[in-house]
Amino acid sequence: MNLEVIILAAGQGTRMKSSLPKVLHPVAGRPMLQHVVDTARELAPAAIHVVVGHGAGAVEAAMAGQALNWVRQEQQLGTGHAVLQALPAVKPESAVLVLYGDVPLLSPETLRALVEQAREGPALLTARVGSPAGYGRILRDADGALLEVVEHKDATADQLEINEINSGVLAAPASDLNKYLPAVGNANSQGEYYLPDVLSMAVAEGSQVHTQLAGSELEILGVNDRLQLSQVEREFQLRQAHALLREGVDLADPSRLDVRGSLRCGQDVRIDVNVVIEGEVTLGDGVRVGPNCVLCNTEVAAGATIHAMSHLEEAVVGARASVGPFARLRPGTVLAEEARVGNFVETKKASIGVGSKVNHLTYIGDCEMGDGVNVGAGTITCNYDGVNKHRTHLGDGVFIGSNSTLVAPLEVADGGFVGAGSTVTRAVAENELAVSRARQRNIAGWQRPGKKDGEG
Ligand code: UD1
Ligand code: CA
Repeated sequence: MNLEVIILAAGQGTRMKSSLPKVLHPVAGRPMLQHVVDTARELAPAAIHVVVGHGAGAVEAAMAGQALNWVRQEQQLGTGHAVLQALPAVKPESAVLVLYGDVPLLSPETLRALVEQAREGPALLTARVGSPAGYGRILRDADGALLEVVEHKDATADQLEINEINSGVLAAPASDLNKYLPAVGNANSQGEYYLPDVLSMAVAEGSQVHTQLAGSELEILGVNDRLQLSQVEREFQLRQAHALLREGVDLADPSRLDVRGSLRCGQDVRIDVNVVIEGEVTLGDGVRVGPNCVLCNTEVAAGATIHAMSHLEEAVVGARASVGPFARLRPGTVLAEEARVGNFVETKKASIGVGSKVNHLTYIGDCEMGDGVNVGAGTITCNYDGVNKHRTHLGDGVFIGSNSTLVAPLEVADGGFVGAGSTVTRAVAENELAVSRARQRNIAGWQRPGKKDGEG
């Protein structure tokens, strides 16, 4: 049987108190709806239909370019009404899985098992929870077969005691939904068309509704407010960290790593506490990342060390290179093997050659640096003239004395040497020494000024 997925995402999410549509709030750096879509894709469905209403344009734009069939539900008249809007696009011989854009932690295994049970009739994902308030309760007959789902607001005091709840997620043959959904009414306390009503209708026609218990209460957690969003985020982060540990990554503390994107690691990678990973990050064999580092869309080759408090964005770090502590590598930074960038150094669009060192308090921007270069403390590439950016080229083996300003465009050829404290504005040829500071004068017998009479 072909599977098609319907994801409900039309609700407003008032309790988020946000102008961003609820399903676009990020979990691990990606819209929560994206997680639901990704999970759905793992089941290889023939189609994914997304029902949108509030903020529909923004939701569609955020997910543009993906194979999704968008269905507009102009008025949110209930979950049954929402599914009904998508049904015309579903092939009558398909099986349908209903998911929610605000329930992002479900595992593909759970869903696969649920779909498996829905070959002949509807199957519902239920859960046992500590506090069932707000959820629809599962009513069963004496033999334990499902009778109906009663919404919290429609439940009697006795029914409210039931702690098996409707997760909302169900699977059913499209033919069943086509048969029952149009007949679902809204004569209930909320005046809504309830999707779970199709279950009691199927039971009334003599079908058995299969149920499956979710693996955990967390798996079915829906996000209605920022507190639940934070719970989902923590759970998601913990799962990712545990997966990394199982892959052999050494994490100082799995609860103090945040991966907002994807992290690929070689063997024997060690990551200290409070590291934030954004976008696509790759760490080669034996890489060590110190505490409180942020790595964004960055590649670090084998054996390199990123010391504490460093911030790397769109950077490439070569094998056995060393970065930080307190380094800032901005986009376009490429460090060759064994390069060293030390504390309070900022780099941007800079390639730093094999074994070259930029160790202290320096700005290197729009610069190509050869191999074996030594850049002294306090060096600045003056790459901006107030209008345009210009480049600096430093050849192999160049030595830049401390506190130099290199006014770009500038070329210092191989073996060039710049004396400390120089402002260099003209090209330095191979093996030349450039010094541009005022000559030192020593005045013998000089007297320090004394205090004037009557003052202080
Ligand atoms: C629903 C279930 C309840 C279950 C709970 C699990 C119904 C009637 N009740 O209740 O049994 O325990 O989920 O969380 O199904 N939506 C639309 N269009 C609509 C209405 C809802 O897209 O017209 C979407 C919402 O954006 C939301 C989801 O469906 O993501 C659930 O809707 P909501 O009204 O919050 O249902 P609950 O009251 O939580
Ligand atoms: Ca809800």
